[in-house]
Amino acid sequence: MNIAVRYLSKTGNTEKVARAIAEALGVEAVPLTGSSAIEEETGVLFLGVAVYAFGIDAAVTAFIQKLDKAKVKNVAVFSTSAIVKSMRAPVKKLLSEKGIPLLDKEFHCWGKFKFMRKGHPNASDLERAKGFAKDIMEMSRNV
Ligand SMILES: Cc1cc2nc3c(=O)[nH]c(=O)nc-3n(C[C@H](O)[C@H](O)[C@H](O)COP(=O)(O)O)c2cc1C
Repeated sequence: MNIAVRYLSKTGNTEKVARAIAEALGVEAVPLTGSSAIEEETGVLFLGVAVYAFGIDAAVTAFIQKLDKAKVKNVAVFSTSAIVKSMRAPVKKLLSEKGIPLLDKEFHCWGKFKFMRKGHPNASDLERAKGFAKDIMEMSRNV
């Protein structure tokens, strides 16, 4: 089963989590750019989003809108933020418009922003992220 990791990170926090997840899975963490489209059949797409102005960045929305359900079988979301504790609902809404399932289990940790959440994501956050990636893979094997 092909596994992919894609993320958007403006200040580096979500990138750290993406890299930890990718390391646990033995794949590459790829930032969302013009060439980050999912071209091959992918069992689980790990999608990393941060919260900006209480929402999802337009680049993430555009990326999801271009996904093909024939290629992407499941998405697992991970996120960092300073206040909001989950990005599952807005991501699920966008994915449902594409007919792509979002796995129940998600990962979230704090990400430093100005004077808030200093030091995050920290080593313990990144260990938790690796555990999340392994749990998702274990669950997906039993589907
Ligand atoms: C322009 C901007 C707007 C933000 N707005 C919010 C917000 O509305 N709610 C929140 O919880 N965090 C907010 N944050 C904090 C980020 O979600 C947090 O720092 C996150 O870890 C940034 O991820 P990144 O480093 O991968 O870009 C904002 C950060 C920035 C830079």
